[in-house]
Amino acid sequence: MARVRTAVLISGRGSNLKSLIDATRARDYPAEIVLVIANKESAGGLDIARTAGIATKVVPHKIFASREEFDAAIDAALREANVALIAEAGFMRIHSEWFTRRWEGRILNIHPSLLPAFPGVHVHEQALAAGVKVSGCTVHFLTHALDSGPIIAQATVPVLPNDTPETLATRVLAEEHKLYPGALKLVAEGKVRLEDGRAVFA
Ligand code: GRF
Repeated sequence: MARVRTAVLISGRGSNLKSLIDATRARDYPAEIVLVIANKESAGGLDIARTAGIATKVVPHKIFASREEFDAAIDAALREANVALIAEAGFMRIHSEWFTRRWEGRILNIHPSLLPAFPGVHVHEQALAAGVKVSGCTVHFLTHALDSGPIIAQATVPVLPNDTPETLATRVLAEEHKLYPGALKLVAEGKVRLEDGRAVFA
């Protein structure tokens, strides 16, 4: 079985990256992680990748004059590594439109809320301020509109009376680690695809 060559894009600690790496260790998992790209040398996930023997590349956004040039450098690295699928996991940069169009249907993202509720940043603060009784996480196809691409999978958690953004984040993160490997698997094996702006399930 040829496994789908996948890159993971990160900016930080990389716990979702770790859950994806662990999942790809299964012999029958349909994707393999061939490259991890970070926009910061300080991203903790780089060490997780290196320990796992996965190629890493740092593309520091600050050295590029525009979003397009930054994305062009990422695109070049992806092509050089023959990547077919991208999983973003805590990657904190917004892409240019040409990049998202170029990778349309082949780029996923995870977000720590039940989208379309609470896009953007300070997600758990938003959820607590709204007083919702359940929250969760979403894996979706990444499109140019921020945190609003077609949904592939979601998981829910209860919001408890004494939750802080930190306690809620911890509960949601545990679900993220289960959800993302399953969602990536669905896409890699062609059981869900993006068609006319919708997620179509086989
Ligand atoms: C996760 O909560 C993810 O949903 C969000 O950023 C966080 C990244 O955490 N987009 P990690 O780097 O995977 O540990």
